[in-house]
Amino acid sequence: MRALVCGVLVVGFAALSPLLALAVQGAASGASAAEPPGYTTRTPSRDGIGKVYMGREISRVMGHLGAGWLERPERERQERTDLFVERLSLERDDVVADIGAGTGYFAFPVAERVPDGRVLAVDIQPEMLALIEDRRARLGVANVEPVLGSVTDPNLPAGAVDLAFIVDAYHEFSHPWEMARGIHRALRPGGRLVLVEYRGEDRTVPIKPLHRMTEAQARRELEAAGFAWLRTDDYLPWQHVLVFEKPAPAAD
Ligand SMILES: C[S@@+](CC[C@H](N)C(=O)[O-])C[C@H]1O[C@@H](n2cnc3c(N)ncnc32)[C@H](O)[C@@H]1O
Repeated sequence: MRALVCGVLVVGFAALSPLLALAVQGAASGASAAEPPGYTTRTPSRDGIGKVYMGREISRVMGHLGAGWLERPERERQERTDLFVERLSLERDDVVADIGAGTGYFAFPVAERVPDGRVLAVDIQPEMLALIEDRRARLGVANVEPVLGSVTDPNLPAGAVDLAFIVDAYHEFSHPWEMARGIHRALRPGGRLVLVEYRGEDRTVPIKPLHRMTEAQARRELEAAGFAWLRTDDYLPWQHVLVFEKPAPAAD
């Protein structure tokens, strides 16, 4: 199990230097949907980038050399990834965004559930998108579209997405508020954001601390970006599944 945990963390330091070079904003307090938040800095811990948001140090990005770990055969059994896909309530023609899609581990099975819709698979690493593109071409899948995002913007069309999901990636977003606002913009009113993070409250989850989040922390951060929390489901062995909504504007 320890090797598995290390697998999350050993990879991808080449992808980090741009993050480490980020100009971190000053220490203004609080965040709201309308205003950019105050990020603070600390001495980076082993797995962190030294940038702190609402008391949480942001973790390093998993580089593309970690692709094998994401695709490990035992993942479905350990994390019940099949159950996650099954429990996403989707319509055949939904437009879905997989943010921090990595190898497309979730994008492809989700695409099968939206045969008349599409999955926009967003990542900041071109190497990850190349893996998705290879698989898409090899399997002849027409409804998965790789999208190159930036650290501050998922680069999605406004109001076009029915459901966005983020699995094991939000904790490594170097600009979590900006990303959450970008996802909020991309969702249609009433659209949902499903956030999956390893449970920070549960010491038995064999994942290093900065790669986990508590439910309270995740709620605090997403609510600060304008999302309404609907519920937290705990049907997965290691992860919380938090469901948020982009509130529809009130009728006159
Ligand atoms: C640990 S991997 C998880 C991949 C996939 N969601 C899965 O569970 O198999 C996290 C991914 O998030 C991506 N990522 C990090 N920051 C990002 C950002 N701001 N926007 C989009 N993707 C990002 C990384 O490049 C990496 O591919």
